Amino acid sequence: DPQSFSAKLDVPEALTFDDVLLRPKESRVEPDEADMSTRVSKNVELQVPVLSAAMDTVTEGNMAIEMARQGGLGVLHQNMDVDRMVAEIERVKRADELVIRDVVTARPDQTVREVDAMMQQEGVSGAPVVDDDDEVLGIISGTDIRPYLEVGESDAVREAMTDEVITAGEDVTAREALELMYEHKIERVPIVDAENRLVGLVTMQGILQRREYDDAARDEDGALRCGAAVGPFEQDRAVAADEAGADVVFIDCAHAHNLNVVESAREIKSRVEADVVVGNIGTQEAAEDLVEFADGLKVGIGPGSICTTRVVSGAGMPQITAVTEVADVASRHDVPVIADGGIRYSGDAIKAIAAGADAVMLGSYFAGTDEAPGRVITMNGKKYKQYRGMGSVGAMSSGGGDRYLKDVEEDEEEEYVPEGVEAATPYKGSVESELHQLVGGMKSGMGYVGAETIPEFKQRSEFVRVSSAGHQESHPHDVMITDEAPNYRPDE
Ligand code: XMP
Repeated sequence: DPQSFSAKLDVPEALTFDDVLLRPKESRVEPDEADMSTRVSKNVELQVPVLSAAMDTVTEGNMAIEMARQGGLGVLHQNMDVDRMVAEIERVKRADELVIRDVVTARPDQTVREVDAMMQQEGVSGAPVVDDDDEVLGIISGTDIRPYLEVGESDAVREAMTDEVITAGEDVTAREALELMYEHKIERVPIVDAENRLVGLVTMQGILQRREYDDAARDEDGALRCGAAVGPFEQDRAVAADEAGADVVFIDCAHAHNLNVVESAREIKSRVEADVVVGNIGTQEAAEDLVEFADGLKVGIGPGSICTTRVVSGAGMPQITAVTEVADVASRHDVPVIADGGIRYSGDAIKAIAAGADAVMLGSYFAGTDEAPGRVITMNGKKYKQYRGMGSVGAMSSGGGDRYLKDVEEDEEEEYVPEGVEAATPYKGSVESELHQLVGGMKSGMGYVGAETIPEFKQRSEFVRVSSAGHQESHPHDVMITDEAPNYRPDE
């Protein structure tokens, strides 16, 4: 049929972060008072609306633990085999558990010397003493052992241990455990079942550590929350992640509006208990096809710092427009939206929320921190860490190709058509201080708009359009920066 190609040039405009600014409004909100709590998916709430990207140079166990402790969420990448992913999920879930399950125990007939060596090796300062049926007979600590070692004796643990043990049942709360510890001047309470068999241990150190993180993202049992990414067709990985305790499974694909992906995602959703977030998408039509079953939608087609999707494929959606399109549909179905990629500054993050996102995901922002995988490298006297796209040759050749719907395993490396680059990013120190700057800046944005909560901010915020002159005016200009600010590193 004859077609009007010139009509194609009647194009809608799509905008991104630098095209807009938040319109300042009358406000009584002090930034410190802003409440940043949000949802990343239908059933998972966070105190801090920030996620670390599912990339092999950003999120493994250490990052996920720190993100959750600080109130956000880490999403483990999928470039590791399923067994390793299960182990990483379990590590995160156990990191701050009130009841330690992997307890180091001693036997009554071991010598105090053996137990002393074992405790040093395991890095613990005491151990419950159990028999072959795990029944608790006593508890032994460094203090019990020391006198024996001082006089050169190596008696059996049975002699040295404290045999009047204070134990508690599995349903003990942190407060109850602390009260027992104060009352009996002890530092650890073995947790036992009805037959007095050891099932866990609560320690004073563990309780104090949990208290340090009062905004931490925790599940109903008090364990840290953890996200895990799976390829769009990796049903088995999704089920394994779910069984290992992941709170949110992220079905991660560069183009989740591919209908095979939609079907597979629907099936994964029917097979797992965890919330399922599907992405990435960038249009209203994609959102409509996914809202029916997804617990959350993730937005971003090509905005990422290491992405070449738009230049390689010619397809993409500038991120602010993409988020607004998806959020229009998602908000009608009460499905949370995550804006993923392209966020360089805290101002970008809060603009994404104004555009309708409930939370933001960042890769490059966190890749330079201590908690990201990989070591610090020095080039020309400056410190960096590696950061690479999951669609880069390096990441795809270590197993990440299916995010890009590419059957890379059988291909030769030179046959890859990558959609990302491998790069270095400045070394930054701890996630804690980076998050502090990011969230502090976002709260500042809420102050300028006069909104105390994220839902209120989404309603109340308005954008103005920025010209290129306006954009130049926004950044420091006509000066030479002499000291780097902790929240402003001009593009290098
Ligand atoms: P930022 O800008 O925070 O973006 O570094 C992180 C997000 O970028 C996406 N991502 C990619 N996109 N090619 C792409 O087109 C890639 O190789 C690639 N790797 C990651 C991903 O959504 C991530 O969260």
